[in-house]
Amino acid sequence: MSIIVTGATGHLGRLIVESLLNRGIEPAQITATGRSLEKLADLAERGVATAAFDFDAPAEGVIGAGDTVMLVSGSEVGQRARQHGNVIEAAKKAGAARIVYTSILDASGSPLVLAPEHKATEELLAASGLPHTILRNGWYTENYLSAFGQAAATGTVLGSAGEGRVSAATRADYAEAAAAVLTADGHEGRVYELAGDEAFTLAGLADAFGQALGRDVAYTDVDADAHRAALAGAGLDKGTAGFLVALDADTAGNLLLSDSKDLSTLIGRPTTPLVDAVKSWAAESN
Ligand SMILES: NC(=O)c1ccc[n+]([C@@H]2O[C@H](COP(=O)([O-])OP(=O)(O)OC[C@H]3O[C@@H](n4cnc5c(N)ncnc54)[C@H](OP(=O)(O)O)[C@@H]3O)[C@@H](O)[C@H]2O)c1
Repeated sequence: MSIIVTGATGHLGRLIVESLLNRGIEPAQITATGRSLEKLADLAERGVATAAFDFDAPAEGVIGAGDTVMLVSGSEVGQRARQHGNVIEAAKKAGAARIVYTSILDASGSPLVLAPEHKATEELLAASGLPHTILRNGWYTENYLSAFGQAAATGTVLGSAGEGRVSAATRADYAEAAAAVLTADGHEGRVYELAGDEAFTLAGLADAFGQALGRDVAYTDVDADAHRAALAGAGLDKGTAGFLVALDADTAGNLLLSDSKDLSTLIGRPTTPLVDAVKSWAAESN
């Protein structure tokens, strides 16, 4: 019986494979999948089984009877409910033992535009009758990597999120939680709301950037129009600027905030502090 990890060519899936290996799972008991086998070659060299697996046409024989499927949500927004449905169908047909799915915080009630595809997938899982666990992942700390680069260059963080707070956590922490669920019994039927222990404002983010860079980084809060204009002035296209402004509106509305401690409970330690994550980025960029 294997653990089949989808999206292992991506950031989170790769970290989940590493977390499983760190927990002592035999490499051959893990099947790392993605659309490009080339991107999985180093894992194959370490003895991890690898397989090509496309959500649009899941290959037969990758998922076997009794396997556990770690379904990392795909990245093709607008296509995902259908694609995830294909994977759930393939798992059911193969006689998989259970599915673990990475969803979004408060998937059933969240007004975030990304939520409906996750809600739909959760409903497909419920309808499938397969034992399953939902990992409702919050915002990734790594989503602020480009803001960190800009802060390093300009000494400022510009946004329109006001006093809104974000309960971000690192991908590595979410991956560890997934590995904890994949390697233990008793998680069937559970829905975990996963978020960082400490929420921060964008001013707090700027402060963490300053600590990591060893100099002052200021947060400047502007209204949405001024934010959009500044992003356009910095060369961002209309769509990207609009996305970032909308994201700050979501942050201002505390839609990325959660007081759940499910993540630290699952990983058995506090989540990685923001400043530690940012310091690791600073070290990597030196
Ligand atoms: N919580 C957050 O802040 C946040 C932010 C962004 C995304 N997400 C969600 O979390 C997921 C994992 O995050 P990540 O950072 O690891 O994303 P990522 O690095 O972009 O990885 C996405 C993975 O999905 C795979 N994928 C996409 N379409 C596929 C398809 N049709 N068939 C098979 N595999 C497919 C990709 O495979 P290829 O290598 O073949 O493209 C890749 O392995 C994302 O896909 C997205 O659903 C969450």
